[in-house]
Amino acid sequence: MYRSLLTLGLLAFVPALVLTQEEKPNPNKPLDFVKLDRKDPMVYEKDVEPILVKKCLVCHSGPVKEAKLDLATYEALMKGGKRGKSVIPGKGEESLIIKLCSRNAKPHMPPKSEEPLSAKELTIIKVWIDEGAKAPSGIREKPKAIVGAPPAQVTPVRAVAITPDKNQVAAGRGNQIHLFEANSGNHVKALIDPGLTTPDKKPVQAAHLSLVESLAFSPDGKLLVSGGYQEAIIWDLGSGAIKQKLTGFADRVVTIVFSPDGKLIATGGGAPTEDGEIKVFEVETGKLVVDIKNGHSDTVYGACFSPDGTKLATCGADKFVKVFELPSGKFIKSFEGHTHHVMDVGWKSDGKLLASGGAELPTATAPSKGVIKVWDFEKGEQVRTINTPTKPVSRLRFLGKTSVIVVSIGDGSAARFNVDNGGAQGNLAGAASDYLHALDASPDGTLIAAGGEEGVVRVYNGANGQLVKTLTPPGVEQPKK
Ligand code: HEC
Repeated sequence: MYRSLLTLGLLAFVPALVLTQEEKPNPNKPLDFVKLDRKDPMVYEKDVEPILVKKCLVCHSGPVKEAKLDLATYEALMKGGKRGKSVIPGKGEESLIIKLCSRNAKPHMPPKSEEPLSAKELTIIKVWIDEGAKAPSGIREKPKAIVGAPPAQVTPVRAVAITPDKNQVAAGRGNQIHLFEANSGNHVKALIDPGLTTPDKKPVQAAHLSLVESLAFSPDGKLLVSGGYQEAIIWDLGSGAIKQKLTGFADRVVTIVFSPDGKLIATGGGAPTEDGEIKVFEVETGKLVVDIKNGHSDTVYGACFSPDGTKLATCGADKFVKVFELPSGKFIKSFEGHTHHVMDVGWKSDGKLLASGGAELPTATAPSKGVIKVWDFEKGEQVRTINTPTKPVSRLRFLGKTSVIVVSIGDGSAARFNVDNGGAQGNLAGAASDYLHALDASPDGTLIAAGGEEGVVRVYNGANGQLVKTLTPPGVEQPKK
């Protein structure tokens, strides 16, 4: 008797708490849960995944993983993002994903510019978490990543390249490739893949569907290669037309380089934590000539041909720098000593020294520090370590035939160091206000270009480090200062 009264009392109370029908979403107000007319438990792949695919994946999958949160698979969702776990099984309302999606905590998800979740969708995710956030039920094939064009406001510069004659600078900005005159800063043209469409067949005016990750000019300056998500393109610079499209990549092509004779290009990439991918193609035919499998156990971020073109140095998230023989693809040696991601590797013009840059293992007092290591190629030994003051090193180039390298750093600065003695040679003037991802130097080392999260490219005099020009495509404001 007592118990049924209590139940009655509770029941009477419940409808006041939950909305029985869906309200029109107001993008600022917290979103309430609704009563779902449903008895069987939620099933991840049937109930939850379609919501994430529709409303979250553009910013949380493939090359764009905002806040380091990947929502493309159950495993990645459960791993969480930069703030930690997004899902606490059994505790829907305490889970970050619900706090943000119900707009009870910031940053509200999806962001205001996007289509919000309906109260019903929010409730489905919450109930699934309350029920223990169960994994997908059946044994499924690895889900195919769905990659669309990035949102218009996502315009990081992830790649830059300078023509060998120093007349032009190419910049990958979002999914676009822009060419600029290095001296005047004038915009020359944008390279467009004329047949490009989204997965649902809408035309896209861009070079790649997703972000441009890597760029390099051929030694004769006639070709530009660009790497994107699961593809690379060889462009004819004169006509702006596509000469070859290279496919067969597992994930992003994050580094792309020409051999010194211009006959080969090497690419690096691979699916994070699964396999490092190293491929070498013949430029003329687009044929895959070397396919190095399991060269690294995680994404390959950097690659560099030896000055004589007979070897390829690579580095990656597995903390290794490795060297392979060409064209056999045979492993020659590895260089061990990095404690975290190695982002780029360069070969000194005499072929004797290698330099690599990346991140130090984060500690409580130094959450993200950068490091450069110099290696003796013959001995296979570390020569020295150069610490960069703050954030990780993202790209590294030797300046001409000198012992000086220039590196782009996560804190927005670019700095030069002498690999023979480790001495700092000064920062380039006029740092970016956000993460620098991209850097290139002309073959003689007298011109440097760098770009990053801000979406602008800065061109520097390599000799004195002075800023020459700031490049932005037409219609985009130059940064203040
Ligand atoms: C237009 C892009 C965009 C869309 C769409 C989007 N997000 Fe986000 N999301 C972001 C950005 C940007 C951040 C980082 C904001 C910050 O750190 O201040 C973020 C952060 C998050 C975080 C915090 C992760 C962490 O550990 O810091 C969660 C959780 C999240 N999003 C969930 C979602 C969900 C669920 C959806 C879909 C319902 C969604 N997002 C849709 C851009 C987006």
